[in-house]
Amino acid sequence: MIRLDGWRVLVTGGGRGIGAACCRLFARAGAAVWVHYRSDEASADAVRAELESLSAEPHRVSAAEISEPSSVRGLLSAVDETWGRLDCVVNNAGIWVRNPIDELDVDRLQETLRVNVDGPFLVAREALPLLRRSRNASIVNITSTAGQRGEAFYSPYGASKGAIIAATKGWSTELAPDVRVNSVAPGWVDTEMCVEPFADGGRQAIEAGIPLGRVASPEDIAGPVLFLASPLARHITGEIVNVNGGSVLCG
Ligand SMILES: NC(=O)c1ccc[n+]([C@@H]2O[C@H](COP(=O)([O-])OP(=O)(O)OC[C@H]3O[C@@H](n4cnc5c(N)ncnc54)[C@H](OP(=O)(O)O)[C@@H]3O)[C@@H](O)[C@H]2O)c1
Repeated sequence: MIRLDGWRVLVTGGGRGIGAACCRLFARAGAAVWVHYRSDEASADAVRAELESLSAEPHRVSAAEISEPSSVRGLLSAVDETWGRLDCVVNNAGIWVRNPIDELDVDRLQETLRVNVDGPFLVAREALPLLRRSRNASIVNITSTAGQRGEAFYSPYGASKGAIIAATKGWSTELAPDVRVNSVAPGWVDTEMCVEPFADGGRQAIEAGIPLGRVASPEDIAGPVLFLASPLARHITGEIVNVNGGSVLCG
């Protein structure tokens, strides 16, 4: 079992889906978790209450708009005042917005890039001073298969996740040896993000194309995130770990 007793971990978008599963797993491993959310306060509060039943660490919850520099600065200032350091940041918050190129909606394009690209960049910049006070520091970015093979009708999303894969590699050398930086790239995951494509038989059609025969649970993603953050991965940086049930990425 991986133990992270005494660790301080920030999970963006921790109130539901993959982020909430990461919060639970880090808390089970002994870490104190800062649950960040944007708008769904009830859900984020429920996650924090659950964490308190998992470990007695000083878990926290607070809101921020990750595409806004001042909002992200406020979030990390609060973490600094409360904890004074971070051992891991999970850059998980993100949006998945349909936007076919034939009828490209520029506002939606910019919103996707602001949340999925500006967001992780801003969080990383503001978190760095806190991470540099840790001897175990790492950032784990949640990217996507779409960032590697693209995604029809969602090409701005694929482009945003591809940007974070490139950022992962750039930051990993820029920040070594102080901070390790890795990504986890999920395929289909059973969260609110995928309610529409999974409806009306969509889930069965998707699962038929996955060698392991099912979409991932949020917990399937949280495990590799915890591993990459942990000392077991202390010689791994700049890697993209695909968690997609064996789906072929390229070709
Ligand atoms: N689900 C999949 O199949 C899949 C596949 C590959 C990659 N991913 C990636 O995995 C990550 C998590 O996805 P998920 O499926 O767990 O999504 P989700 O259930 O829709 O949750 C998204 C989270 O991001 C937060 N968020 C969204 N926009 C934000 C903003 N502007 N500022 C701050 N927080 C914001 C939300 O906060 P509120 O709840 O407060 O609104 C929520 O906590 C995303 O980066 C996604 O792209 C997901």
